[in-house]
Amino acid sequence: AFADPVVTNPRSCNRPNLPVGAQPIPCCPPNIGSDQVEDFVFPIVVQERVRKPVHLLSDKEIADYKEAIKRMRELSPDDPRSFTQQANIHCAYCHDSYALNGSTAPPQVKVHFNWLFAPFHRWYLYFYERILGSLIENDTFALPYWNWDHPDGMYIPDIFNDRRSSLYDAKRNANHLPPVLIDLNWNNRAGDTSGDVDTNLRKVKQSIADVKAPDTFFGKNFAEGGGQFPASGTLELLHNTGHAWTGDPTDPNGEDMGAFYSSGRDPLFYSHHSNVDRLWTIWKDRFGGVDFSDDDYKNSSFLFYDENGKLVRVTVDQCLNMSSLGYRYDNAPIPWEFAGE
Ligand code: C2O
Repeated sequence: AFADPVVTNPRSCNRPNLPVGAQPIPCCPPNIGSDQVEDFVFPIVVQERVRKPVHLLSDKEIADYKEAIKRMRELSPDDPRSFTQQANIHCAYCHDSYALNGSTAPPQVKVHFNWLFAPFHRWYLYFYERILGSLIENDTFALPYWNWDHPDGMYIPDIFNDRRSSLYDAKRNANHLPPVLIDLNWNNRAGDTSGDVDTNLRKVKQSIADVKAPDTFFGKNFAEGGGQFPASGTLELLHNTGHAWTGDPTDPNGEDMGAFYSSGRDPLFYSHHSNVDRLWTIWKDRFGGVDFSDDDYKNSSFLFYDENGKLVRVTVDQCLNMSSLGYRYDNAPIPWEFAGE
């Protein structure tokens, strides 16, 4: 059915529709043999992974994060666990590479501008985090989050700005490096000013705490979305500013963070999304948010390579109960809960 996207085969991936000015790249998964797809099995959780704010990590946690990304960058680029291929996943799912349900006709699978946004990115991070953990043999490795909803986290975290570090990416807006505060209302207009703590906190509250209806929060269903901007939810819209604000405006499409096909090339992407994923759980746990229960939603599926390089089919339904995925967020304060009241 139109509203129930099922990606059945990585070989159904076609060359992406890249924006003008982008270097042509294939984006599709590499040919790595049999492409036997296995259904997802929930992990056996001995100890939960606890995701923390980047700016509060211990020296050991910082060292682990850097080392894991370094090793991921060192993998052969045709290894599906490599940094190149992890970035390409985002490109493939964002630029019309996958036809729906094995068909070749439009519409293509889109994981933005509709209700697939939150679950797709949750799954994407799930596998990314586990791959990183396996590369440093640490099965409690947890993907730290860019805590831009807290005053102490409202700038690009220091560990991403060291040129010698695996977390560095050169393609960022030179006017938005620390100590410039992120502007969560940023809209690409000229006349940059630094963000403002109170305005940012109010924006987060309006996008998360004040929202009740699932389709306002997550976006509209895939069928209604049809790839159009107005179908995005407040969670996605809020997150968009983090991308556009970080990307380099001197690159044709605001690369890396400002463009879908390239944003996964900036390690900051994944910590940005860790915070987005966290805000989803806060919305549910603290503000009474409720997930969709439509079968079209729950049965939508994606394919990812796991930490063993095996191809796994996951459904949206399987990610809605976060604790069964073996990770959680720390209990950092929520300074925007009453912002502006
Ligand atoms: Cu797939 Cu932050 O976007």
